Amino acid sequence: MAAELIDGKEISREIRDELKTRIATLKAKGVTPGLAVVLVGDNPASRVYVGMKEKTCSDLGVFSDSHRLGVETGQEELLELVRRLNSDSRINGILVQLPLPGQIDEAAVITAISPDKDVDGFHPVSLGRLVIGLEGFRPCTPAGIQELLVRSGVELSGKHVVVVGRSNIVGKPVAIMLMQKAAGADATVTVAHSRTADLPAVVRNADVLIAAIGRAEMITGDWIKPGAVVIDVGTNRVEDPSRKRGYRLTGDVHFDSARQVASLITPVPGGVGPMTITMLMANTVLSAERVLGKG
Ligand SMILES: NC(=O)c1ccc[n+]([C@@H]2O[C@H](COP(=O)([O-])OP(=O)(O)OC[C@H]3O[C@@H](n4cnc5c(N)ncnc54)[C@H](OP(=O)(O)O)[C@@H]3O)[C@@H](O)[C@H]2O)c1
Repeated sequence: MAAELIDGKEISREIRDELKTRIATLKAKGVTPGLAVVLVGDNPASRVYVGMKEKTCSDLGVFSDSHRLGVETGQEELLELVRRLNSDSRINGILVQLPLPGQIDEAAVITAISPDKDVDGFHPVSLGRLVIGLEGFRPCTPAGIQELLVRSGVELSGKHVVVVGRSNIVGKPVAIMLMQKAAGADATVTVAHSRTADLPAVVRNADVLIAAIGRAEMITGDWIKPGAVVIDVGTNRVEDPSRKRGYRLTGDVHFDSARQVASLITPVPGGVGPMTITMLMANTVLSAERVLGKG
């Protein structure tokens, strides 16, 4: 029987409805959550992401403060803006859209963001808190993956999760999140990457497979254990002359063959993608709630 779909759009809507209630509570107490979004340069994909973040802020009633800087912007100018946003009380979250132009040191910029406003969850303090199991901002895509699994009723405790990919933004943090001694985690996690020997054999051991590779349709149905849950993070453009825009989006998993073997699977698009911005909003609301709690 073909696997059921994990509908990221629907789960995302559900979480956004919950956020609306929390935002209304904050507003009733005089607090409007605020997100600053900084875009440097004119990378077309980044422009689209920033536009989507602004629209989501407006849909949810979050104050959005956008800064579009030229491609020649120097590091000091960007750091100065980050410092200003750190001390702006209207702003609960700061997001600097990556990648940054080559003249700017990304790590220096991420580290300059106040850990109290690090809604992307990339600051070393946030990642350190994640590793030792302290509460904090979780990186958005990994947090979205965990929400998809938990809200789809996937029991992770004692299960073997295989994560393919070890990037700092997806593979590593999701592996750490799912191995924590905590609800919605407690999995036994294997992390695979480009140097992994016999990757198909490793993937075949997965009760839950998380593919975060960036290689279109690399994982085929014959690599997947019958009944496994498949989370496909990959977002790859594949030429497709039959489409008006000349390409289609596809995941790292070959959907049609994987669907015949898996029990649950995320589509691309419409799986992990919609969750990332939703979790950014969740972190921004959490940040505003913390400020109110301290006040
Ligand atoms: N939906 C979303 O919101 C969202 C968010 C973020 C990313 N993504 C997508 O997710 C994918 C991964 O993103 P990323 O930023 O994590 O990518 P990344 O930084 O390029 O990392 C890719 C990882 O995959 C591994 N890899 C590459 N080729 C491999 C192979 N042939 N066999 C096994 N492992 C291989 C790499 O191994 P090495 O470490 O050995 O090089 C690396 O660890 C991309 O398609 C990206 O567009 C989607």
